[in-house]
Amino acid sequence: MCGIVGVLGNHEVAPILVEALKRLEYRGYDSAGIATVNDSTLDRRRAVGKLVNLSDLLVHEPLRGKSGIGHTRWATHGAPSITNAHPHQAGPVAVVHNGIVENFRELRAELAEKGISFVTETDTETIALVAQSHMQSGLQPIDAALKTIAQLEGAFALAFLFEGEEDLIVAARKGSPLAIGHGEGEMFVGSDAIALSPLTDRVTYLEEGDSAVVTRASVTIRNELGEVVQRECKTINIDQTQVDKGGHKHFMAKEIAEQPTVLGEAIRHYLPNDGTQICLPGGDLDFSKVKRLVMVACGTASYACLTAKYWFEQIAGIPVEVDVASEFRYREPPITEGTVALFVSQSGETADTLAALRYCSGKADRIVSVINVPESSIARESDLALPILAGAEIGVASTKAFTCQLSVLLILALKAAQDRGQLGAEELNQHLCDLRALPGLINQAIGSESKISQVAAKLAETRDILFLGRGRMFPLALEGALKLKEISYIHAEAYASGELKHGPIALIDQHVPVVVLAPHDELYDKSISNMQEVMARAGKVLLITDAKGLKDGAEGTWDTIQMPQVSDILSPILYAIPAQLLAYHTAVAKGTDVDQPRNLAKSVTVE
Ligand code: F6R
Repeated sequence: MCGIVGVLGNHEVAPILVEALKRLEYRGYDSAGIATVNDSTLDRRRAVGKLVNLSDLLVHEPLRGKSGIGHTRWATHGAPSITNAHPHQAGPVAVVHNGIVENFRELRAELAEKGISFVTETDTETIALVAQSHMQSGLQPIDAALKTIAQLEGAFALAFLFEGEEDLIVAARKGSPLAIGHGEGEMFVGSDAIALSPLTDRVTYLEEGDSAVVTRASVTIRNELGEVVQRECKTINIDQTQVDKGGHKHFMAKEIAEQPTVLGEAIRHYLPNDGTQICLPGGDLDFSKVKRLVMVACGTASYACLTAKYWFEQIAGIPVEVDVASEFRYREPPITEGTVALFVSQSGETADTLAALRYCSGKADRIVSVINVPESSIARESDLALPILAGAEIGVASTKAFTCQLSVLLILALKAAQDRGQLGAEELNQHLCDLRALPGLINQAIGSESKISQVAAKLAETRDILFLGRGRMFPLALEGALKLKEISYIHAEAYASGELKHGPIALIDQHVPVVVLAPHDELYDKSISNMQEVMARAGKVLLITDAKGLKDGAEGTWDTIQMPQVSDILSPILYAIPAQLLAYHTAVAKGTDVDQPRNLAKSVTVE
C-alpha cells in the first residue's frame, strides 16, 4: 500500500531512489515519483503506471541532486494520475506518504478558510500545504514538519524534503511501517528493510508515533510525546538474491519453486535437532488450559486459518473461531477467559489484522501471531510472534507464505494436541515424521508442472470456474479460487462440495470447468458423488487427486492431475501446489501481469 523511500547520499540520488522503489513496487504500482534538492532547488518527476515509466521519464528529463525522496503509489484518494502522484509539493515542501490521513477534510477546510486552494484530490497534498502554511508563519522546516505531523490523524508513514535543505529529511510513522537506514556518511529512509538492503544492513525501525529528523550525520527520534528517545539499530540479514527472480520468468514462479526449501527450513525451526520434538523458539505456549482459539486474518492468510480450524478442532479438540479481520474488528466479539487470539499475516502490517489484534489486546489471555516479517507491527505487538521463515515474498499473490503459514499452524495444532493429552506418543511421532517428509512431496507435486500448464491453457479460455473441496480441502478450494481470479482475472468461486446442490449447481453447464480438490481420504466417496452430480449436468470436472483417487474416481472427468500420496492431515499443504500452479499458468496463458495484477498491492496498510 504505497512504498516510500528517502536518501541523503553522496552521489546522484535519482538512480538510487528508483532502484529502492523497484524493491517497493510490490506495495503499489499505480504511479511513481521522486523529488530531489539540487543547488537548494526542490524539483520532482512523476509518472503514471509502473516504475519503468518514471525511469523512462528520467532519461529525457533527468533530476540532479544528492538528497531526495521517492514513492510508489497504490491509489486511495484520487485516481492514478500525474497530478495525484507523489511526491506532493507545496512551495518549499515535498512529501511522500503511505497510509490515509483521516482528518484531511478538516485540515483542508482550515486551509480553505485561509484562502489556500488545492490542485489534487489526495489527502497527502494537505500534509504539504499544512507544512507550507507553518513555514509561512515563520517556522523552520523541522518545526513545521513536526507541528504538521502532530496534527495528522489516521495511519501513515511519511517523509518530508525541503527547498534549501540538502541535508534534511523529516520522517514519521503512525500505523504504517518505516525504517531508517544508517550508511557511511549517508542516511536512508524506507517503508521496509528490503528497500534499503542494497544500501545498508544497519536499520532502526521507528515505533508507533515516532518522528525522526534525519541528516547525513545523525538521526534524532522523538516519541509521540515529543521526547527524544533511543531506538535500537539492528543489523539485518536480507540476502540480496531473495529479491531477484533467480532465473524465473516471474517472482511468483520462483516463490512456488522455493517451497520445498523454505518449508523445510520452517519445519526444522520448529522441529529442531532430530525433528522428534516440537519446540517454539522465542517463547512457549501451553495449550492445556486454553478454552477457545480465535483466529483472525485477511485473504489467503484467512484461508490458512480456516484450514487450521480443522486441525485444531480434530486433532487437539480446541474450539476455534475464524474471522476475516475487517469483519472481526467492528463486530465487537466477546473475548472470554481462556481465549488465545491468533493472527496470521505474511506482511505483519495488514491494517485490519493489526486493528483486530489491538481489539484483543488486554482481553485475550495471549496474543499470538504467525508472521513472515519479524520486525512488523503485528509481530511486535504480539505476546508471542512465530515466524514462518518463508523469506521475502515479492509476487503479489501469496504462495510460499501460505504453505509456510499452514506448516507452522499444523505444528501448533500438534503441540496443542500434545499439551492436552489428545495424541499418543506414537501418533505424534508419525505426524512429525510425515511433516519432515513433506518438502520432498512438495517437490514431487511441483514435478507435475508441465501437465498443469497444459490444463491451464484450456482453463484460460473460460470465463467462470468453480472450485470444490470437502473437509480440510474446502479452505484450499477458497484459496485456489482466490489465486486464480486475482492473477488471471477469470471469475472463480469456491464451495464446500456438499453445498453444491444448495444453489451453485444451477451454474453448471459445459462452459464452466469445476476443479475438484480431493485426495483419497475418508470423504472421497462423497466427493465422487458430487462430481457425478456435476458430470450428469454436462459439467467439466478437473479432478486433482492421488493414484488411489484416480483409480476410483477419474471416469468421466474432463481432465485429471495426479498428486503424490500424502497423509490426510498434510493434504491441504500439498494440494496448495497444483492450486498455485494452475493459477500461475492460466495467468501466463492469458498474458496478464502475474507479479503485479491490476488493482492489487502486496501489503494492505489501509482498511
Ligand atoms: C492473496 C494475498 C492476500 C493476502 C492478504 C493478507 O494472494 O496475498 O489475500 O493474503 O492481503 O496479507 P497479509 O498476509 O500480509 O496480512
